Amino acid sequence: MSVPLVDLPAQHEPIRDELIRAFTEVLDSGRYVFGPELEGFEAELAQFCGSSHGIGVSSGTDALLLALMALGIGPGQQVIVPTFTFFATAGCVWRTGARPVFVDIDPKTCNLDPQAVERVITAETAAIIPVHLFGQCADMSAIMQIAARHEIPVIEDAAQALGARCGDQPAGSIGAVGCLSFFPSKNLGALGEGGMCLTSDDELAGRLRQLRHHGQSDAYHHENVGGNFRLDALQAALLRIKARRLDQYIAARREAACRYQAMLESLPVTLPYTAADQFHAFNYYTVRAPKRDELRRHLASAGIAHSVYYPLPLHLQPCFAELGYRRGDFPVSEQAAEEVISLPIYPELTEAQQQEVVDAIAAFYQASPAAGHLPH
Ligand SMILES: Cc1ncc(COP(=O)(O)O)c(C=O)c1O
Repeated sequence: MSVPLVDLPAQHEPIRDELIRAFTEVLDSGRYVFGPELEGFEAELAQFCGSSHGIGVSSGTDALLLALMALGIGPGQQVIVPTFTFFATAGCVWRTGARPVFVDIDPKTCNLDPQAVERVITAETAAIIPVHLFGQCADMSAIMQIAARHEIPVIEDAAQALGARCGDQPAGSIGAVGCLSFFPSKNLGALGEGGMCLTSDDELAGRLRQLRHHGQSDAYHHENVGGNFRLDALQAALLRIKARRLDQYIAARREAACRYQAMLESLPVTLPYTAADQFHAFNYYTVRAPKRDELRRHLASAGIAHSVYYPLPLHLQPCFAELGYRRGDFPVSEQAAEEVISLPIYPELTEAQQQEVVDAIAAFYQASPAAGHLPH
């Protein structure tokens, strides 16, 4: 017996015929770039997220890069990002020529700490990128207030949080631009790569659309230098089918998280914390575990897939060495990097599979009784 981290064939099995039909329709249409499937998907997902515009792009990474480009961010400017996130959040800032300015996280949610943001704002700060890590929104009311006070645009990195809400506001619809990823393991996964920028600002939407297509204002006339960041019509057609089941996928993830909560309660792991007023979409189910690396080895030998998001905070990545950060600069993130472990979670995960995961964790701690709960 073994439990995978995600099970995409199981997700696609009930919609196999629909996916094949959509594939055939795109194949026969001869329309593989732009076209009705892309437009339909953009309109439908933007509506789901409560935004006026959805701009389909080639990946979540490109959504972030495009958002930064559309806001005119470049050399001499600074962008505030959490250090405890996926690489793309800061990598895209770097690629524009701007400087990523790292901040620490809240120890309970692992999301960016709004007070830390306020402390690093300077005259050069051109944007703030909160990341809705693991599927829970950052404290957007505090972040939006700070941003408004300093007149700085907010780009939401909602790659992991499609379907989450902060109060009654959907993830991705709160800042100037929201960035989604359709990497296959995300809440809405393509059969390949994809992403989307969301915005309710008509002018910004126009710039995003133009920059996605090499900054072209008219056929082969370029007002700005953009890139090829387009989402394929084929992926859009497939994503449209899956997007109709998004509510159901999120509900199943939340049910699985609820079951884990009950099953893991008596074990010495610290369970995910959902802040007040947040609707968690559980793209990942991330606990903190004493003796994490030993637990990993035990789970691997028991056939339980798992992952560590993320083992090295971004301020300590070799590629950012010239920014001059040191170990100890962001202690909350550095500690999280040593303790977090993400367990299998996906809509099709069964209670029996979860029991197998939990039994393996329980067996590990029974065999190493010295592991107490982690202090916080
Ligand atoms: C927080 C975060 N930001 C950005 C991305 C980038 O998305 P993609 O893999 O679609 O480029 C991811 C994807 O893993 C992510 O988790």
